[in-house]
Amino acid sequence: MLGIIGAMSEEVASLKDRMDKVSIYRAAGMEFYQGSLLGRDVVIVRSGIGKVNAAICSQILADRYHVTGIINTGIAGSLRNEINIGDIVLSSDALQHDMDATGFGYPVGVIPQMDCSVFQGDERMIEAAKKCCGETIPEIGVHVGRVVSGDQFVSDKAKKAWLTETFGGYCTEMEGAAIAQAAYLNGIPFLIIRAISDKADDSAIVSYEEFEAKAIEHSVKLVMALVEKLD
Ligand code: ADE
Repeated sequence: MLGIIGAMSEEVASLKDRMDKVSIYRAAGMEFYQGSLLGRDVVIVRSGIGKVNAAICSQILADRYHVTGIINTGIAGSLRNEINIGDIVLSSDALQHDMDATGFGYPVGVIPQMDCSVFQGDERMIEAAKKCCGETIPEIGVHVGRVVSGDQFVSDKAKKAWLTETFGGYCTEMEGAAIAQAAYLNGIPFLIIRAISDKADDSAIVSYEEFEAKAIEHSVKLVMALVEKLD
């Protein structure tokens, strides 16, 4: 069983529409749609925005459904010039940029008393997703790199520069690393798939509003192709 998480209803609506044999379970203010997507067993859920919602959602996927993989689909702000609006970023790994125990001598982004703060995306899922991009949406740029997450919509070029320089991030969003951490703690492979809606700079809010729908379309297309490919 594969878990598919989107933060916002727009990010999962068209995936849910394509499901068969659906049963719905409600918990923690979320609706878990279990059923079949392109013949595969899946649970699709809108987590809500931010790391806490994303972590709770992931834990329910682990405990109730014993998912064997988690895909996080959605949109993100680009942190690099070469990553354009509409492009896809696949998570090589993910970390939380707003984890800050520097006062105790930890580097920013490091979670105190954990053996890991940078969570590795699943190689097999990354490779499969890359292939799907080439086959399904060849006109779109695909980048494999670090997703940096925090409870913050980044729309400021100084903050963007800090994220790029400090963490080597490829894109920023508000859930991925929380899902990654929950997946790591439960021994579940994960992949974050994000389509770029904005450049996470001073133009981000206007750009987000303009390109949100198009970006979601790209990530949904890729998730569909990937679900079909993964066994
Ligand atoms: N999701 C889409 N764009 C984003 C941004 N600039 N910051 C955080 N989350 C986002």
